[in-house]
Amino acid sequence: MISQNIKSKLAGGSAIRKMFEEGNRLKALYGAENVFDFSIGNPDLEPPREVSEALRELADNPTPGMHGYMSNSGYESTRAAIAAKRSAESGLEINAGAVCMTVGAASGLNDILHSLLDTDDEVIVLAPFFMEYSNYIANHNGKTIIVDTGDDFMPDIDAISKAITPKTKAIIINSPNNPSGVIYGEEVLSSLNTMLKNQDHVIHVISDEPYIDLVYDGLTVPAALKYIDNLIICFSWSKSLSLPGERIGYTLVSPKNEDYEDLTAAIVLSNRILGSVNAPAIWQKVVERSLNAKVDVANYEYRRNLLYDNIIDAGFDAIKPSGALYIFMKTPEGLTDAEFSAICAKQNLLLVPGASFSRPGFCRLAFCVSEQTIRGSRRAFYAVAEELGLTARKEQ
Ligand SMILES: Cc1ncc(COP(=O)(O)O)c(C=O)c1O
Repeated sequence: MISQNIKSKLAGGSAIRKMFEEGNRLKALYGAENVFDFSIGNPDLEPPREVSEALRELADNPTPGMHGYMSNSGYESTRAAIAAKRSAESGLEINAGAVCMTVGAASGLNDILHSLLDTDDEVIVLAPFFMEYSNYIANHNGKTIIVDTGDDFMPDIDAISKAITPKTKAIIINSPNNPSGVIYGEEVLSSLNTMLKNQDHVIHVISDEPYIDLVYDGLTVPAALKYIDNLIICFSWSKSLSLPGERIGYTLVSPKNEDYEDLTAAIVLSNRILGSVNAPAIWQKVVERSLNAKVDVANYEYRRNLLYDNIIDAGFDAIKPSGALYIFMKTPEGLTDAEFSAICAKQNLLLVPGASFSRPGFCRLAFCVSEQTIRGSRRAFYAVAEELGLTARKEQ
């Protein structure tokens, strides 16, 4: 018999998955070109040239043992290259020992949480947030403490401070953010650090950074390493190099972290005992050779603009995302997110209600879908707006 724990999770299901299945059902009924499915954030750009070149080179020039077991933290040369890159961006002296190669960010986050949490320890997350955080925290018997961000989706330092208890072990931040697309500025990071350093016990900041390279409008993401001391970074190439199926990422403990020695050792052990053992060997070599490459970010920016214009022109409201792959649009007044998404579904327009990110009043749309889908959806947005009596800001 399966555990009660997993049984209750199976019964809960995932709103995004359900939406995905609904999308497939509608596509079979009406044809794919008439369904505007913005529910799943699957990066759809091809990886950059550096990735296929590295793969070819590795296949053509095999070295003895290249498919063998290795240190649980990964290849020294890959970790040293990452450490050098992060040193250059932060001005800190970071060495390979700070880095542990992981099976994507999902595994990195689990390694970090396993390393930090005793039963009932608390982890603060900032709503809206990537819903898997609660599962990952529960995996290690921790408790998720949800703190709302402000209207601009920026961390509210006072609210975070009020949520801290003697059991608070960590806070997870995610910038650029899934689902809001906002980037946390230097001042926010500094004040978070100051507030946390004034507490009477160490509280780690876990910076989940899978979208750090997907940034628009010429903006840059402030390096958390510069502003936060008790920092643990979790990075993944799922989005930067469009490799979500290959499962490759890393964790990095800041040299300023008060628990540096214990944490670096604990994360490597967690990587082993949680079952990853080590990150995929070939992909470590590939990312080492592609460290400064990224997908065609301008292409995502172009599609962000198209989708954002559809939403705004039709008469809806949304904060324009500065990064990541999503627009978190406001649910029109007087409707619940479920009611609004049901009205959208009548026009074959699929989006994810904000409850899935613990932030009702909004719905998420992923813009990593074809340009044709985004262009085709314009009439659906106008049809929904008309049904709701909204005034369009521009001609359809
Ligand atoms: C905020 C955030 N963190 C972590 C992940 C997991 O990424 P990975 O594919 O590297 O496990 C995702 C995936 O969408 C995400 O959006």
